[in-house]
Amino acid sequence: IFDNAQEGAVTLAYEIAELIRSKQRKGEMVVLGLATGSSPISVYRELVRLHREEGLSFRNVITFNLDEYYPMQPDELQSYVYFMHEHLFDHIDILPQNIHIPDGTLPIDKVKDYCQAYEKQIEECGGLDLQLLGIGRTGHIGFNEPGSAITSTTRLVKLDPLTITDAAKDFIKEEYVPLRALTMGVGTIMKARKIMLMAWGEGKAKILHKTVEGRVSDEVPASFLQLHPRVAVVVDQWAAAELT
Ligand code: F6R
Repeated sequence: IFDNAQEGAVTLAYEIAELIRSKQRKGEMVVLGLATGSSPISVYRELVRLHREEGLSFRNVITFNLDEYYPMQPDELQSYVYFMHEHLFDHIDILPQNIHIPDGTLPIDKVKDYCQAYEKQIEECGGLDLQLLGIGRTGHIGFNEPGSAITSTTRLVKLDPLTITDAAKDFIKEEYVPLRALTMGVGTIMKARKIMLMAWGEGKAKILHKTVEGRVSDEVPASFLQLHPRVAVVVDQWAAAELT
């Protein structure tokens, strides 16, 4: 629990940087699972600073993003492709071929095979070394809304009405928010060797309490993380307000 989000974000960025550097020393690639939304922005800002001012290189980094709206064109302002380039990829030396973000442009009949291939690509890279997560007020991680199974894999899902309401600020009007998204599954996330979940602000306090101290259940998909052996939950004092 940190006093404020900035301190938490700097710590998360430092952990990520240390992982990248330790793999570099061994001449190995590192596979990162990345999130979008407001929560990771300050983490990415700090990673960009470490690259610019402290020589942190991302040439040994492979990334897989958790999710993307469906349908979504990559050049739309609300796309997660746009987001990732704006906040991170355009400012670091990651190789473009090492970036993976679910493709929101696919025709519906190609989605199933594509999702299976996304899973396979993660496995072929050796699996996720570290998954960075935010949490939605529904308890979603990625876009695994209530009802998502612990074994779920990458797939097309329907967004929860509360998630659509929360996304409305990015889409001008609620009716412009896509109803669906492609997301890694809970099972995909649970296979990561290490997970870091972040939550900032009082708006996350209730769901964070349920996630960390509540019953493990698909009603709060993030609660499945209680069953993972290596999870760090990094929060500010406001998100932690309802922890006992
Ligand atoms: C985004 C994602 C979502 C967000 C969650 C919190 O890639 O997977 O689970 O992490 O909706 O969003 P913010 O950070 O905007 O509160």
